[in-house]
Formats: sequence, structure tokens, C-alpha cells
Amino acid sequence: MTAQPATIRVGIIGTGVMGADHASLLDSSVSGAVVSAVADADAERAAGVAKGLAAARVVLDPLELIAADDVDAVLVASADQTHEAFVLACLRAGKPVLCEKPLAPTEAAARRMLDAERALGAGTVNVGFMRRFDPGYVELKEIIDGGVIGVPLVVHCVHRNASSQHGATAADVVTGSVIHEIDAARWLLGEEIVAVRSHAPHRRGQAESAVGPVLVTLEAASGTVVAIEAFVNATYGYDVRCEVVGDRGTVALDPVGPTATMLGGQRRQPIAADWRPRFSEAYRLELQNWVTALRSGTLSSAASAWDGYVATLVAERAVESLATGQRVAVITPPS
Ligand SMILES: NC(=O)c1ccc[n+]([C@@H]2O[C@H](COP(=O)([O-])OP(=O)(O)OC[C@H]3O[C@@H](n4cnc5c(N)ncnc54)[C@H](O)[C@@H]3O)[C@@H](O)[C@H]2O)c1
Repeated sequence: MTAQPATIRVGIIGTGVMGADHASLLDSSVSGAVVSAVADADAERAAGVAKGLAAARVVLDPLELIAADDVDAVLVASADQTHEAFVLACLRAGKPVLCEKPLAPTEAAARRMLDAERALGAGTVNVGFMRRFDPGYVELKEIIDGGVIGVPLVVHCVHRNASSQHGATAADVVTGSVIHEIDAARWLLGEEIVAVRSHAPHRRGQAESAVGPVLVTLEAASGTVVAIEAFVNATYGYDVRCEVVGDRGTVALDPVGPTATMLGGQRRQPIAADWRPRFSEAYRLELQNWVTALRSGTLSSAASAWDGYVATLVAERAVESLATGQRVAVITPPS
């Protein structure tokens, strides 16, 4: 990688929930970066986000944004199915790109992106699996890697959202939410997933108004099992949990939040409405890491295109398993 200018001028494609959040973090809380351009299929939304930034202009065509002279690097935060076209355009333009998860909705698309990156030189695509930067997950990994809890045997993961988009299916829960756990498991354990099994339980004879909990089990190469419950209509708020059980002890993310109030005979603790407050520091640290690496011409420690590809591959097998509830082997090609 070649070093980039002292201030990285970032172009953002997609100014919805995540794009707007990233834009604000890049402009206000990340050193060495400025958002120079934003694009969105909804031009009014892009203009609204640009208005709150120091020096961003609105570009109507995302491909024009990628090619622009005042854009050194691109952040893709548009809808999942648009990632491939934009990432490939960045690679062709020789511009580094941080793409929100998932890298792509299908293994075939993710493979095309990985192959394009390899054909054009490594290290230009990163994927927004921000848990790798969350202080809690980082500490979990340090404790596991330090051998403190012994050999990891089981990982329990819970991923709950208050409500999902209308019409979301169990497959969407896997490709949109469980994929975070898939990447976190590979990263925490430092090994590949060799098989998956999925299940979407429902009460017999009862019509469901929205998708319920989805259970996915991952088998790691060493035999460690990762048990995931993803429930995107949990109603009460956003809740992510992770506990790793080793043969000498366990380590878990601390639940919910930093403070609790004792009042009127009750212990109360606020629960975030969505993922932004829970992972705000992780997003900031991820963006800072990406920008710092670009400035110094080194590789970012954010998830790579390979990590993005493998997570999509495992998610695709987990979706396959939903149909039968049977174990499906995951054959990861050599990296
Ligand atoms: N890392 C995380 O924690 C996290 C959390 C939520 C979403 N995401 C991912 O971030 C991405 C954006 O999600 P979101 O919640 O912000 O969605 P969103 O619907 O709020 O925003 C997506 C934006 O992309 C725009 N868009 C769609 N197609 C486009 C196109 N062809 N050209 C330009 N703009 C286009 C839409 O108009 C919209 O403004 C998705 O890939 C999603 O999976 C990641």
C-alpha cells in the first residue's frame, strides 16, 4: 500500500442510518480525515447529511464520487445488494474502501470482490465488522488468547434488536445479524468454522406477525461450539451478549450498561434502543484505525475482504440449514 495524504478525504456512499453515523464520527471524532463528498440514491437525504458536515459536497452519482479527485478513500454504507458494484468500482479506481457488513449478500458476489482485490493488490478492501474494535470484545479476546480461562469449549452469543424491518425473514436475520457473530467467533477463536446448523422455532398452529428468534450453531475446526440466538423483534431494546466458557473459567461481556439506578424498590438499567450507542466507541475506533493505516500506508486491522468473504460463506451455509435444520458442512477454500 502506498501512503495517502496527511488528511484522508473520504467519500461516503449511502447516507442512511450507518452512513450518517459514520460521516459524523469521521468529521468530529476521527483525526486525519475529512468527509469530502457524500452520495445517496435519495439526494435529499445526502444533502441533509452534508449540511451537518464541515466540508462535504453532494455528488448525485456514486460512481462519480468514487472517481472524484477530492476523494482519497471510500466508505460504502449503502444497501447490502449495492456493495459489490461500488467496491469493484473502488478497486478499479485504485481507491481503498471500507465496506459495511456484509461484504456482499451472497458467497458468489463476495468471491468476485475478493478475486478483484487480489488481482489488483491486497489490502484495499476492509469490512465493517466493528466488534473487533469494541473494548469489551477486545478484552474478551485478550483473556482467551492469554489462556486465562483455559481452552475455550463453548461460546454463547445473544443478538437482539427491538424490531426489524417489515417482512424480514429468518434468512435475513442470518445474513444481516448472525453474520456479526460469525465474524466475532472466527476472530475471537482464531480459527475457521467447519459446520453450521440453524433453526427458526415457532409455535405450531400460530401465525407469526414478524420473524422470531433464530438459533444457529457453529462448529469451529478445533471442536469449540458457538451457540447463537438472534432475535430481531425482541421489543425491549438492543442487547448483545457473549460469554466464552473455557475448561478453567468463563469470561463474558458485561451486560447492558455502565450504571444502574436503585429506586422505588427496583434496580433499573437503561437499554439502548439500537446498536449505535452500544457500539459507538467500536465504530469510532474502527474508523480511526482505517484512517491511521491509510495515512501511514500500512494495513488496517479491520476485517479484510477475506474475512468478509468467509463470513458470507458461513452465513450462506447457515441459511441453507434453515430449510432442514440439518448440519451443513462449511468448506472454506485455502486462503
Ligand atoms: N456494522 C453495523 O453494525 C451495521 C449496522 C446496521 C447496518 N449495517 C450495514 O450498513 C449498510 C447500511 O445500513 P443502514 O442501516 O444505514 O441502511 P439505511 O437503509 O438506513 O441506509 C442505506 C442508504 O443507502 C442508500 N442507497 C441504497 N441503494 C443505493 C444506491 N444504489 N446508491 C446510493 N445510495 C443507495 C439508501 O437510499 C439509504 O439512504 C448495510 O449494508 C447494512 O447491512 C451495519
